[in-house]
Amino acid sequence: MIGSQSSTIKFTGLQRQYKFLRDQILEATDHVYSTGQHMLGPNTRYFEEWLTKKNKQPTLTVDNGTQALEIVAEWYKKTYDGTVYLPAFSFIATDNAFKRVGCKIKYVEVDEYGLMQDAHAEEWTDLVVLVGLYGAALKPQKGIICEDGAQNWTGNGFKRIGDICTMSFDPMKNLPNYGNGGAICTSIPELYEFIKNFRHHHHPKYTDVATNSKMSELDCACMMIKAKYLEEWERRRKEIAKYWMENCKYKVLINDLYTHAVQKFVIQLDDRDDFRKKVCYPTRINYPYTLAPTENAVMLSKTVVSLPIYPELTDAEVEIINDSL
Ligand SMILES: Cc1ncc(COP(=O)(O)O)c(C=O)c1O
Repeated sequence: MIGSQSSTIKFTGLQRQYKFLRDQILEATDHVYSTGQHMLGPNTRYFEEWLTKKNKQPTLTVDNGTQALEIVAEWYKKTYDGTVYLPAFSFIATDNAFKRVGCKIKYVEVDEYGLMQDAHAEEWTDLVVLVGLYGAALKPQKGIICEDGAQNWTGNGFKRIGDICTMSFDPMKNLPNYGNGGAICTSIPELYEFIKNFRHHHHPKYTDVATNSKMSELDCACMMIKAKYLEEWERRRKEIAKYWMENCKYKVLINDLYTHAVQKFVIQLDDRDDFRKKVCYPTRINYPYTLAPTENAVMLSKTVVSLPIYPELTDAEVEIINDSL
């Protein structure tokens, strides 16, 4: 076994993070529950204002990152119904959202970092869904650009490269909620209005089919507590990533650490089963499947391994992982 035999490294730092934030979270919980207002109140407003300021685009919260993509898909199908370009390699939610709504999908090969480069969209009204895989920054291109920013939206100074960005606050993300959470920012006023109505059943008018997709007041209050630490946490993620990258003999799937959000630290190796058996800490595979069987997507699905990376890793634990690289 590589590293300390008795390592107790977990894959996420969520329990440690809670220990650190416990007093603030309990205080916020008591405050929100005492007010009796649980949805669409001041905490939702503060969180949406904070997101709007960071993204420099009007932002609305929804239940989770998958629904954020589905709502964009609903609007796109109703408005343009053109081709939706998706990368051949991503988390399955990217695919499911557009499939469920019945969009016309074309899959595009990814580069060796799992990123879709130019999709060569034919029309300016085609939708190009770019995934900031593992935390990577993205580049603009032709089409209506929707960043699936679940993994990268906090990176590169929150710089948005297109018209739409969907976010996730699930417990594995850089700004993690205690459960589901998501948001959409957009510079398209019609889409903003659509989201506002669609997430709340077009209430009070019943004009069209819609859904219920919101974060609770408590979710938003917790997010505002965590938001204070986001930059510090991301600095620590980068510090750890930089150290490992200097020493790592495997290929690391971070193309540019400067602009990266380091949501995941992914290495690539041919004998990944062997590596996973040898190390004394938990690892995961993001992802063991492809959205379309293109050459690079298949190669990545067979060779990538994600290591535990979070701000709460101690220096000793960072060293244990470093020794295995
Ligand atoms: C790239 C990507 N897209 C979409 C999602 C979906 O987000 P959620 O889990 O909040 O539904 C995730 C995260 O799980 C993701 O990593």
